Amino acid sequence: MALPEVTTVVMPEHGKYDFVRYLTAKKSVDDRALNRRVWQTLREALFAVPTDSALRVLEVGGGIGTMIERMLDWGLLPGDAEITMIDAHPENIIEASRRLPTWAIMNGFSVHEEAGGSIRLFRGRQEVRVVLEACDLFDFIARERGRTAWHLILAHAFMDLMNISETLSLLASLAVRYGLLYFSINFDGVTALEPATRQDLDGQIELLYHRTMDERLTAGRPSGDSHSGRRLFEHVRALGARILDAGGSDWVVFSRGGAYPHDEAYFLHFIVQTIHSALKGSPQLSMADLDEWAARRHEQIDRGELVYIAHQLDLAAQLNTR
Ligand SMILES: C[S@@+](CC[C@H](N)C(=O)[O-])C[C@H]1O[C@@H](n2cnc3c(N)ncnc32)[C@H](O)[C@@H]1O
Repeated sequence: MALPEVTTVVMPEHGKYDFVRYLTAKKSVDDRALNRRVWQTLREALFAVPTDSALRVLEVGGGIGTMIERMLDWGLLPGDAEITMIDAHPENIIEASRRLPTWAIMNGFSVHEEAGGSIRLFRGRQEVRVVLEACDLFDFIARERGRTAWHLILAHAFMDLMNISETLSLLASLAVRYGLLYFSINFDGVTALEPATRQDLDGQIELLYHRTMDERLTAGRPSGDSHSGRRLFEHVRALGARILDAGGSDWVVFSRGGAYPHDEAYFLHFIVQTIHSALKGSPQLSMADLDEWAARRHEQIDRGELVYIAHQLDLAAQLNTR
């Protein structure tokens, strides 16, 4: 589930929560969740792309670059590639520029950081050039349309924040003729937190939280909805694209022996805080009940009891092949 682009949220009882750390903590949750069959379908399609030069990949809303690490780690790219990753928030790009070279060296790449800010990675016969840019997607599209065309355009935990039909057709305008699209971790209507606090209240909070997604406006335009995953099918088909594969990529977060893996307790606190802040001021809820709910949820995390499930979908498609 993509969360709105807050950079920091303040949690009175738990100090300050930081978006970069949240994205870092999210990596292991996403690693478990991503649909491996959809990934493999995309990989096969990429290996079939006829290119005499490097494959051009564009990632939008890439955060701190964890998907670039995953593409390299999980062997998504058939050979040489040029990856451009943009994100609206400079602090995310700064963190991506900091962590990618370190990650690459630890994973057997030689790293060459170029004067203009791009990073070249070499391993075996593969060379991957990465360009990271702090830029709003719509400014980027306005600048690049007609100048560059990408073989693969991807967005991870992002499309459910956007006006999907508008964003999709703009993104498609940046692709090569039979370009590939990959949209992963698209929220699809279910948030489950167990065990219950108060059953009537838990259900109401889920309902109202999803409603905040349905009613979200960015620059006065509807952006995202609580069933983005399933709605992607019709939007992608309306583009004239063929869906190559789709499948579930639910987040399932639980402790083992009372301890959450990696930094996933932080991830959970951040999720609870996000729901709490989204519903602050809601006329349909008592604020005392909401505060009490959030306090119970944070305590459940501290005790290793909370189980969190968010239903999401991944989808891979190819343009102009319908
Ligand atoms: C939920 S985060 C996901 C980040 C990353 N894909 C990940 O999963 O780790 C959504 C990201 O989209 C970025 N974003 C939101 N609106 C954007 C826009 N209009 N242009 C570029 N990036 C945007 C935010 O800064 C944020 O990093």
